[in-house]
Amino acid sequence: MTSRKIAIMGAMPEEIEPIISKLENVETMVYGANKYYEGHYHGQKVVVAYSKIGKVFATLTATTLIEKFGCDTLLFSGVAGAISDELQIGDLIIAKSLCQHDLDITAFGHPFGYVPEGEVFIPADATLLNIAKDVAKQKELTLKEGIIATGDQFVADEERKNWIGSTFKADALEMEGASVAVVCNALNVPFFILRAISDSADMDASFNFDEFLESSAKISADFVLSMVDELGQ
Ligand code: ADE
Repeated sequence: MTSRKIAIMGAMPEEIEPIISKLENVETMVYGANKYYEGHYHGQKVVVAYSKIGKVFATLTATTLIEKFGCDTLLFSGVAGAISDELQIGDLIIAKSLCQHDLDITAFGHPFGYVPEGEVFIPADATLLNIAKDVAKQKELTLKEGIIATGDQFVADEERKNWIGSTFKADALEMEGASVAVVCNALNVPFFILRAISDSADMDASFNFDEFLESSAKISADFVLSMVDELGQ
């Protein structure tokens, strides 16, 4: 067994509850107006937290998991809106790379999603992506690998969704992943963003989100726990 300490992060309580319920020796800590659950999963050290929705809260939580709790690997679990027609409700997607669809200083001649000294696309850790593919194979699950676009908007509009899809070639969208990517990239911590589809970011999105949040979050959480097992091999 390794001595790694794995951060498992979600944005909402529904996204981490299926994980917290499976931990042993859980201790709860409050830091920065957020709760952190430190414990073990099948003998491995993990720290679990939900950030609250959006890029700013996600940045705070990811940074805290690394800097305050000393986590050396970060796995994100949650739900997303589908852009790609290949993705249906309940399907899993792993981010090959992530971008911020609402970052816009195009007035200065820069591309969407870019600020000086930053990058439009931040790649996830290649080793973790390969482990995810192994886990999917073992569990006979289909796992799509693609681009995830993040922004501080719940997208429920076909036109906005299509714009994000064509501008960034994104397959799915959500509200936290790229923040985690920026933090982990800057602090040299391998990360992985997994999402199960809850809606298609269209006019039915809020209705579908409410209906499928819990079931899709559980699909993602179960997969992430299998990733933790695989990391312990
Ligand atoms: N997460 C899940 N569905 C979403 C949507 N439609 N927009 C933004 N984030 C989401």
